[in-house]
Amino acid sequence: MIRKSVLIACSMVALISIGCAASSGTTVSDDSEKALGLRKTDLYSEKSETAPVKTDYSRPAPGTSKKFERAYVNAPPMIPHSVEGLLPIKQGNNACLGCHMPEVAKTMNATPIPVSHFTNYRPTTVFKDGELVKEGKKVGIQSDDKLGNTSDIKLAKPKKLNHLYQGRFNCSQCHAPQSKTKPLVDNTFTPDFKDASLKGKSNLIDVINEGVDIK
Ligand code: HEC
Ligand code: HEC
Repeated sequence: MIRKSVLIACSMVALISIGCAASSGTTVSDDSEKALGLRKTDLYSEKSETAPVKTDYSRPAPGTSKKFERAYVNAPPMIPHSVEGLLPIKQGNNACLGCHMPEVAKTMNATPIPVSHFTNYRPTTVFKDGELVKEGKKVGIQSDDKLGNTSDIKLAKPKKLNHLYQGRFNCSQCHAPQSKTKPLVDNTFTPDFKDASLKGKSNLIDVINEGVDIK
């Protein structure tokens, strides 16, 4: 039994080393500490060769930047403009809303926050009399042996709201400001847009409303 697990562990190590050697693409020998991590320098050296690549977040002000193509269909768009003075978003201060709320976006020339962000897709969940109640249905105290109880709690229909869904309040959780930098690892991913117009807008809400045929 013991011998078997040792054998498995050894072959795992072998597999991992092959994986590293194949993906690193450097000439650093595999037993060198320089082969560990992305920095490719001696782990004990803090000389200038080890300094991180420069990152420059300076960007044109909102209204003067050029939008990025979406990373893939219905990816959250990246922030093309400067976010100086706009972050961090706080409970009482979310500057993004001042330009991106649908009622003002047009006059600001900004992309309006989409309908998906004004929709609640989650079952309403409250804690009442010591029990979890989802969509009005008691599901008991959640524990591993009772998790099955909640699997049938599905929303008949997503709830349209007349205000921003609070799960979307922290914009920069999903929409990232972009820096100018030399990438540590080149990105070779190329998205495949069946519909070229989706390079510049999302249609997630249409996809959701249409439903997905899982048969
Ligand atoms: C002063 C108005 C203003 C503020 C404040 C602002 N934006 Fe923008 N935003 C714009 C404009 C205008 C554009 C379109 C690009 C341009 O003209 O610079 C834009 C573009 C974007 C885009 C790209 C949309 C697309 O279709 O590709 C995202 C994402 C975005 N902003 C997110 C944010 C977030 C998150 C915040 C808060 C941290 C924010 N913006 C604050 C005006 C603003
Ligand atoms: C939980 C992740 C998440 C958060 C938080 C979030 N977004 Fe998004 N956002 C997305 C995704 C994913 C998309 C693309 C799919 C869609 O339209 O829903 C998107 C799309 C957008 C678009 C482009 C809409 C279009 O028609 O192309 C804008 C503008 C935007 N978000 C602004 C915001 C702002 C402003 C906030 C903060 C108030 C915010 N988002 C918060 C994930 C998020």
